[in-house]
Amino acid sequence: MPTKATKRTARVKPGQREEETLRVLISHKRIRERVRQMAQDIRRDFPNEPVHLVGVLKGSVLFLADLARELGGEVSFDFISVSSYGKGMDSTGEVKMNKDLDVSIEGRSVLVVEDILDTGLTLKYLLRLFEERKPKHLRVAVLLDKVERRIADVKADYTGFVIPNEFVVGYGLDYDERYRNLPDVCVVRLGPRGKTKIEA
Ligand code: IMP
Repeated sequence: MPTKATKRTARVKPGQREEETLRVLISHKRIRERVRQMAQDIRRDFPNEPVHLVGVLKGSVLFLADLARELGGEVSFDFISVSSYGKGMDSTGEVKMNKDLDVSIEGRSVLVVEDILDTGLTLKYLLRLFEERKPKHLRVAVLLDKVERRIADVKADYTGFVIPNEFVVGYGLDYDERYRNLPDVCVVRLGPRGKTKIEA
């Protein structure tokens, strides 16, 4: 689905940090509507079975919570924590596990819930890990997809929005652990004139 930036901006000067400008890319209203449609698509594919949501901490938490409420029927959750990003906006390119799942996924209909698909390295790592554990079904829902940045050959079964190559925060996504609580998805730009540091 194409995205459209709104005109609203906010300037933030937290302490000594470089000035950061936030621009709303996807409003909470649009997110809510899209999550509802995604839940309908998922339920259409799994009409009468329990769906086991596996959230990738921490960015997927708000998305998973909203998706779970929209899904209805029998839903359970579990969480895994992996890191693929260093501090700030730069990826280390490595994926390492910080916390594994609490329960077995063998024989379950599993939906991996990710905030954003960027290089795809995290998802590739997770799919390989989970496939070995013999789930009945293994599907992926991502809220955001930066298609241009893909390195690994992976794709989601359910995608909220395809977005351009910009660093985004809000609705669970962070910049150095900040901004996860914003209701909208926003582009962060650094510096007094809002010049982005991640344009490739
Ligand atoms: P990938 O392995 O490169 O696909 O990266 C996936 C992870 O990188 C996501 O789950 C996020 O935690 C993080 N990430 C990638 N792009 C962004 C962004 O624009 N904002 C915040 N986090 C991001």
